[in-house]
Amino acid sequence: MSEEIVRIEREGDIGVICLVKPPVNAIGVALRTAVHDALTALLNDSAIKGILLFGEGKFFSAGADIKDFARASEKPTLPDVLKKVNNSPKPVVAALHGIAFGGALELALAAHLRVGIDGLRVALPEVKLGLLPGAGGTQRLTRLTGIAAAIPIICNGREVSATEAMELGIVSRLEAGAARDAGLRAVRDVLNGTLKASATDDLVVMPEPEVINAAREKFKNGLNAPLRALDAIEASRLPIDEGLAKERALFMELMHDPQREGLVHAFFAERATSKIPEQGAVKRDVRHIGIVGGGTMGVGIATAFLLAGFSVTLIEMQADRVAAAQDAIEKNLAGALKRAKLNKESHAKALSALTCEAKLAELSKVDLVIEAIFEDMEAKTGLFKQLDEICKPKTVLATNTSYLDINQIAAATNRPKDVIGLHFFSPAHIMRLLEVVVADETAPEVVATCFELAKSMRKIPVRAGVCDGFIGNRILMQYRKVSEYLLLDGAEFDQIDNALQNFGFAMGPFAVGDLAGLDIARATRDRKAATRPPEERYCRVADLICDQGWFGRKTSQGYYRYEEGKPLGVNPGAQKIVDAERIAARIDTRNFSDSEIAERCLTAMMMEACKILEEGVALRPVDIDAVELFGYGFPRHRGGPMHMADQIGLKTVLSRIETYAKEDSFFWQVPKILREMIARKQSFSDLNEMTLKGCHT
Ligand code: 3HC
Repeated sequence: MSEEIVRIEREGDIGVICLVKPPVNAIGVALRTAVHDALTALLNDSAIKGILLFGEGKFFSAGADIKDFARASEKPTLPDVLKKVNNSPKPVVAALHGIAFGGALELALAAHLRVGIDGLRVALPEVKLGLLPGAGGTQRLTRLTGIAAAIPIICNGREVSATEAMELGIVSRLEAGAARDAGLRAVRDVLNGTLKASATDDLVVMPEPEVINAAREKFKNGLNAPLRALDAIEASRLPIDEGLAKERALFMELMHDPQREGLVHAFFAERATSKIPEQGAVKRDVRHIGIVGGGTMGVGIATAFLLAGFSVTLIEMQADRVAAAQDAIEKNLAGALKRAKLNKESHAKALSALTCEAKLAELSKVDLVIEAIFEDMEAKTGLFKQLDEICKPKTVLATNTSYLDINQIAAATNRPKDVIGLHFFSPAHIMRLLEVVVADETAPEVVATCFELAKSMRKIPVRAGVCDGFIGNRILMQYRKVSEYLLLDGAEFDQIDNALQNFGFAMGPFAVGDLAGLDIARATRDRKAATRPPEERYCRVADLICDQGWFGRKTSQGYYRYEEGKPLGVNPGAQKIVDAERIAARIDTRNFSDSEIAERCLTAMMMEACKILEEGVALRPVDIDAVELFGYGFPRHRGGPMHMADQIGLKTVLSRIETYAKEDSFFWQVPKILREMIARKQSFSDLNEMTLKGCHT
């Protein structure tokens, strides 16, 4: 074996098979083969009476190697290895510490006994990757726990704590201390007869048809994996070999499902965004955060930092609003305590780490300031001038602007190197996306510091360049525009919303507009009115609706009508406005199918995303996917617009744009990068590979 990924150790008559594949002991074909060989060696060694499975490092193992899925069928497969474990005439014990997920838990379930160490978390998270446990998990876990308890663990991928694992019989012993020692003790006890070890395969599963049927209804949500997982759970009533065969067939079926590809892409997208050119730069020490602005964003950002253990000084310059901001943050923290995001001790700590003030001078000691005031360039540049004077050297000066030119804001200071955009998404203490907007002069250490900060807040940071709307809002603008064009051309509000909801968004664009408040988008449109290109087709519907004082949910009327917050269908007044606009523009309306609606909206997103790449505003296609997935509700199983463009084929995307351009050649323009990639036979995934390599330190 050239690289040691499994080590055999001998402790008297016990053979230890130790997984040594950092960082997560992922089980790919090489590791499977090595475990198989190690097992063969120990079974052939007459001096060995019992075997211990153990994972070196911070945890046992994260399961099957997700990067190696294409080789899942290569021999020995994981089920082959597990069969050998299960059939071993010598007792096999698994010592589990930290994490045992997916195929790793399945490996342990195939052993004859499991010992857990305090703090252990076990899970079968395969459904989150569009799969089901494909190496006996659905058969053996169900044999141990029964069908009702197995369903949420398998079909939702719910994590199980150490104590619950003990209660459910997943582990037979729970100990403190070192896993290897605890495992060795257990093997000795099995060998001397004081501890019973046996395979789970002979256990009988009680039928629970009502539970299965109810779950089948619950999981009818467009995702394939949970439903197939239920089929596998149901098969646990069969003799073990039949159940295992059925499970494997369903697993291989899901392996070829586009939903699986989308979900795996999303898994890696979440991790890829932090690979940036600046990652090697020395980071600044940031402990104390200053926030300017006590509105919704400021309050959410303050809460996010407090939840992550930072000290926060929030400045609300209108003295009479300071108490309201403090109250709102305290309410958020109380909510976090209630939802067990904080324990009592950390809740008290967070409260004492918060100061709310009215005077900017209080920011002289902070390490990083985030400006979260209203979107007005003059107000922002004025504020940054003051911050430049007040803050100590090396303080990072960040703006939470959603659109404005950060170069212009930076130029208002004498330290543009320290200025950066940190674009949070509302509610800032819940949404995981953070656009880190790097201005022309931002220092690499400031970028690296902000990425580190994001990680400590469990956010997903995405590097963006300066432009109107950065990555996310820029794509959103085009998505909204095309929805409005569809509306003018004959599709209806609710049809468009339903089509996009069926595509997988939680809400359609008009329902989202009503929720966000139509006045917000109106203000942005008004700001840009002077620079709007005259050739652009402009839909006035939203403006005319706002003119009526209808701003969406908060006024009970917008695109839809609402009573006590509940939607009551399309607002007839809004519909009248649409009808009048269609007549005024002499539009020959036509019918659109739901799939054409989704296709046009998606193509508009892809088109803008290409331009964003072309201009270097996003580093890689995967960053754009991450923005859409983690900030804009793009359905995770579809992997993001760039991933979908690869799936559809770039030539198809191009031909769709060319077709739509026959109606509106200003809006629909083929991005240069798309033609170039097609000529080079490149995919977005190829671009990801190339650029990610360039970002490794
Ligand atoms: N396969 C391959 N790579 C994996 C992996 C896996 N199962 N799990 C994690 N990694 C990689 C990550 O991509 C990351 O790589 P990078 O440094 O190049 O970006 C690195 O390991 C570290 O991962 P994290 O940054 O996520 O580390 P954390 O410590 O924050 O989290 C974890 C660890 C909780 C294990 C988390 O990584 C995780 O949830 N992993 C996925 C677990 C999973 O879904 N397992 C099931 C696999 S499918 C299966 O087992 C099929 C079977 O039924 C046949």
